[in-house]
Amino acid sequence: MHCGGASLDSLARRFGTPLYVYSADQIVERLGLFQQALASREHLVCYAVKANSALAILKLLAERGAGFDIVSGGELERVLAVAPEAAGRVVFSGVGKTAAEIDLALKAGILQFNVESESELKLLAARARRLRIRARFALRVNPDVFAETHPYISTGLSEHKFGIDIRRALGIYKSAASDRWLEAHGVSVHIGSQIRSAAPFGKAIERVSRLARQLRREGVAIEAIDAGGGLGIDYHAGAFDAAEKVGEYAAAVEEALGDFPGRLLVEPGRFLVAQAGALMARVLYVKRNGKKTFVIVDAAMNDLIRPALYQAWHEIVPVRPRAGKPRMVDVVGPVCESGDFFARDRKLAPVEPGDLVALLDAGAYGMAQSSNYNTRPRPAEVLVEGKKARLIRRRETMADLLGPEQA
Ligand code: LLP
Repeated sequence: MHCGGASLDSLARRFGTPLYVYSADQIVERLGLFQQALASREHLVCYAVKANSALAILKLLAERGAGFDIVSGGELERVLAVAPEAAGRVVFSGVGKTAAEIDLALKAGILQFNVESESELKLLAARARRLRIRARFALRVNPDVFAETHPYISTGLSEHKFGIDIRRALGIYKSAASDRWLEAHGVSVHIGSQIRSAAPFGKAIERVSRLARQLRREGVAIEAIDAGGGLGIDYHAGAFDAAEKVGEYAAAVEEALGDFPGRLLVEPGRFLVAQAGALMARVLYVKRNGKKTFVIVDAAMNDLIRPALYQAWHEIVPVRPRAGKPRMVDVVGPVCESGDFFARDRKLAPVEPGDLVALLDAGAYGMAQSSNYNTRPRPAEVLVEGKKARLIRRRETMADLLGPEQA
């Protein structure tokens, strides 16, 4: 098995396990798919940093013209650290921005604040006035559109904490118009994550376009519509045509935008990085308890929490398959919780202690959601470009973990 031009076996031997491995080429290719599919109108692909915030990946994307969708001051610091020139291509989302984060973003000169409440807009205006820097904002509207996905990552219904009721948006834009420190720059929307069909995106953007037309009639000419992120991938094995998926998505969004004359922003995260990444782990033990066979590997829920948190499916493949019939097993980690599993009752080719397995499609929300639970150092990360593999984050040491503490 390979990642780009590098064999997974040799990477695991060289860098140890657990290990995240990413293909730079696939990430760049995915960015290109969006850029090409949206080429008929002025646009900016703002990569959702939360999906995978590795500095090397941010740099890779910035060099190819990507912008960024951030949700914290910390994510902005990451972008500024590797691509200060990209500050003007940053949109700032999130329901709970602090004054300090707003100040940091104002000073950096970001493109747009995606504002999620009237009280946030009030704070933004106050900070802008204080710093004497005009704030470009979009209201993140809640379009009340249902999108089929896991309830924890669905955001576009009025029962969710996200955004401002779309019916109230017009009034808020109108009253903001009298504040000279606020500039109504866009309207934004994000209906959820891992959405597999293009239809809900079209529906949400239709509602946003209608609002944009109303705004124009009222003299508020916004420059941008931000369609958010959320385009899903296929976590199950089998053919996946990424170009076709992006094409369908772009067509639905484009049709819904209609005659909107401005710029389109999109915020894909998962789609750019998920399938470019795998988590490599070594089998520690194989044991039977009652009727069940457990394959215990050296990666755990602290390294990849998606199965535990969302009952998410990740394909698991032995890197050097052994002969023999597949067996029904649970693949689990060493953490002391029954929720620490990667697969339950899954058919897996036979494995023995010492064997290497790859957990696929782990490039998004894997390392980004990792923790030090059970005082486990987080994995190292490797980026493969062509044939060259390079360590982009060393494995944590005990000094890293114990450093901030005092007994
Ligand atoms: N924009 C906003 C405002 C968001 O909240 C998100 C994701 C994105 C863009 C990017 O969405 P994407 O294209 O990656 O679907 N941890 C979960 C996913 C959480 C998504 C949160 N927001 C998971 O592992 O499935």
